[in-house]
Amino acid sequence: MRVLIVGGGGREHAIATAMKKSRRVDRIYCVPGNAGIAQIAECEPSIGVMEFDKIVAYAKEKAVDLVFVAPDDPLVGGLVDELKAAGFRAFGPDKKAAVLEGSKAFSKELMKKYNIPTAAYEVFDDPDRALEYLETAKMPIVLKADGLALGKGVLICNTLEEAKAGVKEIMLDKHFGSAGNRMVIEEYMTGREVSVLSFVDGKTILPMTSAQDHKRALDGDRGLNTGGMGTFSPSPFYTDEIDAFCREKIYQPTVDAMAAEGREFKGVIFFGLMLTQDGPKVLEYNARFGDPEAQVVLCRMENDIMDVIDACIDGTLDKIDLRFEDNAAVCVVLASSGYPESYRKGFEITGLENFDGKEDYYCFHAGSKFDGNGRIVTNGGRVLGITAKGADLREARAKAYEAVNWVSFENKYMRGDIGKAIDEA
Ligand code: AMP
Ligand code: GLY
Repeated sequence: MRVLIVGGGGREHAIATAMKKSRRVDRIYCVPGNAGIAQIAECEPSIGVMEFDKIVAYAKEKAVDLVFVAPDDPLVGGLVDELKAAGFRAFGPDKKAAVLEGSKAFSKELMKKYNIPTAAYEVFDDPDRALEYLETAKMPIVLKADGLALGKGVLICNTLEEAKAGVKEIMLDKHFGSAGNRMVIEEYMTGREVSVLSFVDGKTILPMTSAQDHKRALDGDRGLNTGGMGTFSPSPFYTDEIDAFCREKIYQPTVDAMAAEGREFKGVIFFGLMLTQDGPKVLEYNARFGDPEAQVVLCRMENDIMDVIDACIDGTLDKIDLRFEDNAAVCVVLASSGYPESYRKGFEITGLENFDGKEDYYCFHAGSKFDGNGRIVTNGGRVLGITAKGADLREARAKAYEAVNWVSFENKYMRGDIGKAIDEA
């Protein structure tokens, strides 16, 4: 079969790599793709993920059998609905279901209504009411812009002054654009974070192996929030007991709640969890694979990804025995220094051939492109996701940090402590 992937980051490279392994896939296309994905797929860099008409036309031109929509913006914007209307099989939630990620106010109301454990909260449309509420609220407190904000619309405020400035930033100065027309103010929780991605077919949910991201730019979880600077999988803190609790109180209830609301969810639900003193609670939902969570999860999946994708679309996930290798993976992101603020691009990336033929090592491209002279150059804040598998987390980490030295580019920056938490397990 012929498959089209919508997206162009490290996550999409990991998805393409899993599809390449499928016995059922003959050809992979990707829009816009990147220079790494181009090694295994035909990419069309001129088409952006929000250019729905062009994507539908491209899918027709290439006569694809299935379209996999990976990023949040086109999912929330309704690309899956448009593809289906044009007669394509599409993987990912439709617009009505993608609101699970698209509106934090929606997801909080859903959790409250269906008793799914999450932080206590209030929703505000009016900045004056939000400011008034803060006067008597307990600090620290968390402010969240309602809509999509590139993972950056969350402010953790230690003092009333910071919180007031945050309301101004989100609701008045519109730092995150229209995402800040509404705002959620929620209780500050503490605990370890874990990400659990799951396949969903509208009724059945199959959780994948767990992972942990490192969202801050600098070592020791300091600095600004980023899309993610590195991941490891599985999380040693996600015990069988916690898993059993989450399946019963969080995962299945979320799927059932969406169905009950007339928003049947098919695709991937990503549960951002915090393991608090009072048990696991939902920090956030995403309606897609995480990036760079996909990089450490998919490379450990034993199933043919196309079988699982079909089962999600056809409502037959209950027939799938989802299995992961009994090992571990670590992904270290090589970024452009200055990310997530300002950074330069266009620097040649060398040493990529060092990954050729190396089993258990992956160089997933996030921001790369061809410069027109056959050279591959940096083209984003996150450039590469260097990933390695090992018998356990320590081995995987040692291998990933060995492989980060195989590639070079100017202004290369990475965190040195991805997976450090493993030592506390
Ligand atoms: P989110 O985009 O909702 O996952 O938030 C980004 C990050 O902010 C999370 O990964 C947490 O580290 C932090 N965060 C979000 N909500 C809370 C909360 N209620 N309490 C403490 N930290 C939070
Ligand atoms: N790595 C976090 C995310 O994809 O949202």
